[in-house]
Amino acid sequence: MAKREEWSSRQGFILATIGSAVGLGNIWRFSYVTGENGGAAFLLAYLFFVAIVGLPIVIAELAIGRRGQGDATSAFISIAPRSGWAAPGLIGVAASFLVLTFYAVISGWALKYFAGAGTGVLWQAASADAGGYFQRFVANPGEPIIWQATVLAVTMLVVVGGVQRGIERLNRILMPALALIMAGLAVYSLLQAGSSKGVAFLFTPRWELLLRPDIYLAAMGQAFFSLGVGMAVFITYGSYLPKSFRLPTMAIMIIAGDILIAILAGLLIFPAVFAHGLDPKAGAELVFITLPQIFLAMPAGKIVGTIFFGLLVAAAVTSMVSLLEVPVAYLMHRFGLRRWPATVWTGAIAFLLGLPSAMSYGLLKNIKWRDHQILDNVDYVVSNFFLPTGAIMIALFVGWRWNRPDAIAQANLGDGITANLWIWSLRVGAPVLMAVVLARSFFA
Ligand code: PFF
Repeated sequence: MAKREEWSSRQGFILATIGSAVGLGNIWRFSYVTGENGGAAFLLAYLFFVAIVGLPIVIAELAIGRRGQGDATSAFISIAPRSGWAAPGLIGVAASFLVLTFYAVISGWALKYFAGAGTGVLWQAASADAGGYFQRFVANPGEPIIWQATVLAVTMLVVVGGVQRGIERLNRILMPALALIMAGLAVYSLLQAGSSKGVAFLFTPRWELLLRPDIYLAAMGQAFFSLGVGMAVFITYGSYLPKSFRLPTMAIMIIAGDILIAILAGLLIFPAVFAHGLDPKAGAELVFITLPQIFLAMPAGKIVGTIFFGLLVAAAVTSMVSLLEVPVAYLMHRFGLRRWPATVWTGAIAFLLGLPSAMSYGLLKNIKWRDHQILDNVDYVVSNFFLPTGAIMIALFVGWRWNRPDAIAQANLGDGITANLWIWSLRVGAPVLMAVVLARSFFA
């Protein structure tokens, strides 16, 4: 058997995993959900969930992955053979595949905006009517599909390249560039007259908002999506980890990176939104309709805007790569497919299944459920049902089913208070919190 692929260095692994965590979720989704939920209070709730639920589960997923040395289901099967425990791994494979279907569509929008910003088409159109430009684009029967296919093709190329040559190399370049340029853009945005209102929006909580239950729901959903918890990504990436890497340190760095980029995105977007008297509650269109207007009004805004959309594409692609890698690793390991056919098949099917999402604001715009179009509903179902279900099962599996000494040793936790905290948050704390989210989605 060929030697199993491994990350070439700790740094490569961390960057690739941060590349998976940091994506549209940190920029597009974080900014509009934070805007809709009142800013700083939401940010606090989100940080709480990332740290309290996210951290133990990220460590758990990495430990399961490294123990299994295979695909998303391997460790479950070897620890608890023939007991049905492979289910969380399978849910992860399905969830990451489903996310990929609609994620590719939005990444396609980002690519279209990047191309439009670079060629100047976007600026011309946005100065007349930014909203109309976006609406016309998503309503077009063919165009979103072309962009969706393009981003998927790029992602497939990287994944065919494999762990070191593809995934690791891409992230090694893009992730540091992303952090640096985002920081630069945030400083630029902060220097604008009137930006302080945006800073206050992001950092001065209106405490009364914390009394609203829907803030927690949104914060938890955002934390899950943004980290990519429950989708078997960390299990799959963890399977390529050598024994010598210490998981808690890795997990903390991944989480810190994810939070850092989200906050930088907030510092870039909100000061600019307020400086230009725009509405932070613009919803999912904040990045695509509100931001181009802001860039137009900024000195050198066209350059800044082009860089921004370029970064958005980069962040999206590194996440798509991880989403695609999960089902690809599964097919390779379970069914003995080689990397490239596994990638081509998965990518092609993800494209086809993503078509309804790509057409959901055009030809299929009248197909609605909960008063939302198809794409939003796929996001809703996956984020609210698949993700928490997968994550609860992972937590319970590690907490109750995996024998404790092995789990703790695999997670590099020693046997002190930290190990106890970890085990108990997996046994009780995290599952209970997540069950509340699930229950709330059912009964809302
Ligand atoms: N975490 C990514 C983001 O914030 O955009 C999205 C994502 C990547 C979700 C990988 C799930 C995943 F498995």
